[in-house]
Amino acid sequence: MRLLVTGGLGFIGSNFIRHMLAADRGVRILNLDLRTYAGNPASLADVARGPRYRWVKGDIADPAAVDRCMKGADAVVHFAAETHVDRSILDASAFLRTNVVGTQVLLDAALRHKVGRFVHVSTDEVYGSVARGLSREGDRLEPNSPYAASKAASDLLVRSYVVTHGLPAVVTRASNNFGPCQYPEKALPLMITNWIDREPFPLYGDGRNVRDWLFVLDHARALALVLRRGRTGEIYNIGGTHSCDNRELVERVRVLMGVAPGLVRRVPDRPGHDRRYALDCSKLKALGFQHAFGFTQALQLTVDWYRGHEAWWRPLKKKGGFRSYYSRQYAALRKGRASR
Ligand code: DAU
Repeated sequence: MRLLVTGGLGFIGSNFIRHMLAADRGVRILNLDLRTYAGNPASLADVARGPRYRWVKGDIADPAAVDRCMKGADAVVHFAAETHVDRSILDASAFLRTNVVGTQVLLDAALRHKVGRFVHVSTDEVYGSVARGLSREGDRLEPNSPYAASKAASDLLVRSYVVTHGLPAVVTRASNNFGPCQYPEKALPLMITNWIDREPFPLYGDGRNVRDWLFVLDHARALALVLRRGRTGEIYNIGGTHSCDNRELVERVRVLMGVAPGLVRRVPDRPGHDRRYALDCSKLKALGFQHAFGFTQALQLTVDWYRGHEAWWRPLKKKGGFRSYYSRQYAALRKGRASR
């Protein structure tokens, strides 16, 4: 199978590519990735020289680049996206361009080249905050951040291409991923890398926001299954093995890392901060999916990975882009609203 992966230098995409190359000897992967701040070729250094993998630097919103990469593809797995909620609050424009326009450009090219399968990788954030119970695939979309709204828009675009043009596409909606190679602006890698340096983790608001934690390798396995067995036009929720609020998460990681209490700084809350996400995953389970990693085991693997790969994350945290984002982010949080 010739697979076009978009955004394969990012966190989830790079883990998926490594998984596919190991799990399927017949797969050849072309990775179309613009290498934005969150894309890192070092994440795939171990497979980059192999004959079954190639990275092409390019923008999914550029029709000519997409057309070239789509030629000969049997299937597409579409990860490329701006994903950080806080950044979308500071400035939504890149989110609209990549997540919405980029998806439309890919869908058009997939149609033109008669691609046999298109997997659109999305998020549980499109459902919005759920006070109780579980979000099912048919539930109303109530996105609350500009990021979530841009992903909801792209999900609906995919739906329209299935209904109107008969594109053989499926949508997946995953919960909070964690694991190796996650850019250290997200809560878990920020916590781990800050604590390696004995610096505080900034906890938003009262810390009672609930997330469902999914190990990225389980996500990769679920996507491989949906790629093979998912039914055209369907949506599949992909949840994790452990749901908890941020205070519990902080405490678990603290104990696991052997860090003394107190390395947490309470900061003002994220505007529009969703209180709780929770997914019903019965459709995915009916396809035959089972998690392979328990939460504590996966958390330990993740902590060990960051401890063992300082050369991967230290340069990222030193870069001007990371630092200037943080100064904007905290200026905005202090004001209690988004600043531009
Ligand atoms: O639910 C899936 C989503 O998970 C993905 O679609 C997003 O791309 C991904 O960024 C993630 O969104 P979250 O906003 O939940 O992830 P984040 O790591 O930013 O935050 C996790 C929780 O931790 C959230 O309740 C906010 C909180 N938090 C986050 C940061 C960065 C803090 O308390 N302090 C922080 O510094």
